[in-house]
Amino acid sequence: MIYEQVMEATQAIRLHAPQKPVVGLILGSGLGDLANEIENPIALSYEDIPHFARSTVPGHAGRLLLGSLAGVQVVAMQGRFHLYEGYSAVQVTLPVRVMRQLGVQTLIVTNAAGGVNPAYKPGDVMLIRDHIFLPGMVGMSPLVGPNDERFGVRFPAVANAYGADLRALAREAATQCSGLHLHEGVYTMVVGPQFESKAELRFLRLIGTDAVGMSTVPEAVIAKHMDMRVLGMSLITNTATGDEHEEVDHVSVLEVANSARPKFAALAREIVSRLANQ
Ligand code: 6GU
Repeated sequence: MIYEQVMEATQAIRLHAPQKPVVGLILGSGLGDLANEIENPIALSYEDIPHFARSTVPGHAGRLLLGSLAGVQVVAMQGRFHLYEGYSAVQVTLPVRVMRQLGVQTLIVTNAAGGVNPAYKPGDVMLIRDHIFLPGMVGMSPLVGPNDERFGVRFPAVANAYGADLRALAREAATQCSGLHLHEGVYTMVVGPQFESKAELRFLRLIGTDAVGMSTVPEAVIAKHMDMRVLGMSLITNTATGDEHEEVDHVSVLEVANSARPKFAALAREIVSRLANQ
């Protein structure tokens, strides 16, 4: 069933955009403008792609873009789907399966996240070294249900989902981006949409979280299921240590995302251009 949906969506996209993307980008909250860097883009609204969900969050545009970035054929999701919107983990990750069918080998997933590690400051970037998939550990993995062997194995390993080679490439790329503070750490996914209580943040810190957010891991798991390489990057939009008195809100998350956008875009472009020369 899901296989047929993926194929139908892939066919519909190919009809409008014949080029074969090799790199996929998923652009999170307020980061969708990175898509403006894509040359000669063909834009498809999610509404026009069969079986795609709709973006319901302000700051998430809801279009798929195909074009070239730094000389590389890419497909980019400008706006993603989240569990907190009420979509299933299968629906949230359908676009990743479609990207794979389109030819994508490397997936770059981005998000806006809270900095649980006290050393992280708003505007910093964290490369995801590993994840804690809290929803996935308690039954909300996109792989729950019958396994379709055409996609991948029943029990995929995700221990090295965020490959050391891609992280090294990203660190190299970051040296070309002045004023960029780059960290590497553990991203923990929660469902949301409420932000964490102080006690929850202390819990997240205790279990080894460096950054917390409401996305990315389902997509990374599906990318791994389909044998893709994954690079994950979090833009730290606020401190979330559990010690501070200030409350986080979506508007300030978007404000930080907006002002850090040029740096983040430059980094992503630099990474893609290095991927081309690998
Ligand atoms: Cl503090 N928490 C979560 N769950 N997501 C976020 C965030 C915090 N800041 C940005 N995104």
